[in-house]
Amino acid sequence: MEIFKTISELQQSLKADRDKGLLIGFVPTMGALHKGHLSLVEQAAKENDRVVVSIFVNPTQFNDPNDLKNYPRNLDADAGLLSTVVCDYIFVPSVTEIYPDSDTREFDFGTLETVMEGHFRPGHFNGVAQVVSKLFSIVMPDRAYFGLKDFQQYSIIKNLKEKLHLPVNLVACETVREDDGLALSSRNKLLTPEHRIVVPQIYRILKEARADATNFTPHEVKTRVIGKIDSLGLLKTEYFEIVDELTLQSVTDWNQKGTKVGCIAVFAGSVRLIDNIVFDK
Ligand code: PAF
Repeated sequence: MEIFKTISELQQSLKADRDKGLLIGFVPTMGALHKGHLSLVEQAAKENDRVVVSIFVNPTQFNDPNDLKNYPRNLDADAGLLSTVVCDYIFVPSVTEIYPDSDTREFDFGTLETVMEGHFRPGHFNGVAQVVSKLFSIVMPDRAYFGLKDFQQYSIIKNLKEKLHLPVNLVACETVREDDGLALSSRNKLLTPEHRIVVPQIYRILKEARADATNFTPHEVKTRVIGKIDSLGLLKTEYFEIVDELTLQSVTDWNQKGTKVGCIAVFAGSVRLIDNIVFDK
């Protein structure tokens, strides 16, 4: 496993690999790695000859300066975890390596970005698109791996790929959970012990919502989920929406065509967690 800080060093190795006809799998991350990231790396290792993991806390996707400041960073721990799986290159660029000039590109994702995360975190997806497009042009991967916990992010990146005609295959990977159901997230490390006890209720209530879909309208299911989470006392729902998988627009009737996904953002104290569940209906 090699660690590169510069684009030129990474590209030199990747060029040699590509010249040999090797397939490159890429897992972009912001570090603070956990088993969820490792599952993406493992899948990349199964499907490619070389695996690149980038660790870059991208400032342009944080709409809250405190969130950026408090975002957990620990390269030694991350490298230690990556040494337990097959990872060939870790790319750890500085902010100036990625943004030698400020990135003024404005992407238009239409209604995909005006809802849910896009609504509550203005500018977030523009920042994600800026960094992901740059990382794709640096790494030029054959395949790139993303977790479905960030369901809306995956929709945006699919749209970005189409918009920019990026020659990469996107691979969506299932959310990895703790035994108690909590979706793995780098932010889980920031939870107080008191909040950590209660946050598994989020997924439990999402599963109940899925069962409730036989007896209640989407609007009623939505109200019930928010009511149940907020009544726990320690959690505050920012949004819960049941949306069409492709358009991300709210579903008003279970008979609408297409897969429906329930997406949630919850504050556990100052820690903001997101999760989602696919409805069978
Ligand atoms: O999902 C993340 O960790 C980040 O949004 C990503 C895709 C690495 C871009 O910074």
